[in-house]
Amino acid sequence: MERITEMPRMQKDENGKMMLYVDGAPYIALSGELHNSSSSSLAYMDQKIWPALRPLHMNTVILSVAWETIQPEEDRFDFTLVDGLIASAKREGMRLILLWFGLWKNGISTYVPAWVKKASSGLNARFFRVRDGFGKPLDCISPFCEEAVQADAAAFSQLMQHLAQADPEHVVIAVQVENEMGVLGADRDFSPAAEQAFHSPVPELVAQQYGQGSWEEVFGRDGGEMMMAWQYASAVEKIAACGKAVYPLPMYVNAWLEQHPDRAGCYPCGGPIAKVMQIWRLAAPTIDCYAPDIYLNNFRGVCDEYAVSGNPLFIPEVRATKDSASFLMYAVGKHRALCFAPFGIEDLFGNRSDSIDDSLLATLNISNDAFNPTGAGERLAAAYDLIGNMLPIIDKAHREGKIHAFLEYHDSGISLSLARYDVQISYSGASESFFSRSSNNKDRAVAGGFLIELSENEFILCGSGYSVKFLPKPGEKAVVGVLNKEEGYYRAGEWVPGRTLNGDEGYFIGLSDFPQALHISLFCYE
Ligand code: DGJ
Repeated sequence: MERITEMPRMQKDENGKMMLYVDGAPYIALSGELHNSSSSSLAYMDQKIWPALRPLHMNTVILSVAWETIQPEEDRFDFTLVDGLIASAKREGMRLILLWFGLWKNGISTYVPAWVKKASSGLNARFFRVRDGFGKPLDCISPFCEEAVQADAAAFSQLMQHLAQADPEHVVIAVQVENEMGVLGADRDFSPAAEQAFHSPVPELVAQQYGQGSWEEVFGRDGGEMMMAWQYASAVEKIAACGKAVYPLPMYVNAWLEQHPDRAGCYPCGGPIAKVMQIWRLAAPTIDCYAPDIYLNNFRGVCDEYAVSGNPLFIPEVRATKDSASFLMYAVGKHRALCFAPFGIEDLFGNRSDSIDDSLLATLNISNDAFNPTGAGERLAAAYDLIGNMLPIIDKAHREGKIHAFLEYHDSGISLSLARYDVQISYSGASESFFSRSSNNKDRAVAGGFLIELSENEFILCGSGYSVKFLPKPGEKAVVGVLNKEEGYYRAGEWVPGRTLNGDEGYFIGLSDFPQALHISLFCYE
């Protein structure tokens, strides 16, 4: 029998923190995004994908649904594939986040149906294209093309309508609207409609916040990018609003981040990078959150940049390497991320797949080392198992301000000030003798994790590759001693102790290169 469950939703909790609720309870999507084409075949999903995902302790898979698949002809919709994906996810006990590959995917329009492609040639085409500064058409339908936006919105609304009827158990918990949109290969759209907008006064909502004038007058050299951000956001608002009106699932957009060479058009111009998030928010109130795809090395910096002004941290794509587990610990421990998803998750226990070759990475401006499955699967599986079983503890600690997260990035550690003690966290390498067996080599993962204060004298340490020194507060005449040190794990919110490590192993508090948890009790003597 089908379970009728509560609608998934993104909503602020009593502390004003944006949360994702699934079946009425707070949820973190411990996830992974599939390669773009994996979900286009149910047979492939059954033979290759589901078996590869089973050992990972994930609770959610992110996969694509392409416009061309559900509306192969203008007057015909086909949801066979969508229904099959939902049925197989349900069988696997997995939730889904759908990527709506509509008008835009990585700055281009490759997933639109053939009938759209065929009507996109020429300046006066029904679905006209973005033009560069020389008037050359790009492989991107213009966000100024009202008819294209309406067609996408109509198809998206059909998809959402279908989900409303076909998915009463809410296997699908959220939808990403489009994918890494923006203009690539020109610093803005120069189609006639775009030209006219560029030389007109900015829309009233923008003027209220930033002042009156044309885009260039108000934003200077950023005028083109701001206009594109407004235009993409306005288009997405129309598309998302049509979908939400029939089935109000959480909806987000993702960004190809601003990166070297930091010039709009080298990354998709107008996409929801941090710099233009405020413009996006003005134009697209239906969008619940802005999500970074993190292939840059500075994971910590990007998280901190996106978790601002009420925007929850939601990571639909991230480097898939042995560092993923530490990234997860930081994202959850520091920002209480709603979603964490390495890209190409099906490769994590195998070889790097042929879906990612060097020319693709060059086109996407992603460094080659962002995909290296060596050691990644085991680490991420252990971290997902741990986090997935301690969510209520993590949430309580966040509410009470008792969780402290850290991640190595060209530094050696951090100091924390807790209620009773000061703490020094040192990343591996800082303590050669302990780490020499496992981590003191260049193959180790970046160190990262979090510390939870269960009480003044009781702590949970999670993560890998760091050591911990508890110290008395400055000036205090006391020596800190270890009362008890235990390894263990969580099951359904309960600590399950493993070995007690109080003898030779008790002197030093450190987590090896593999994600783990320790329970520490302290006392003081004079
Ligand atoms: C970012 C895109 O959003 C994904 O769809 C995929 O193409 C990856 N890059 C590939 O690395």
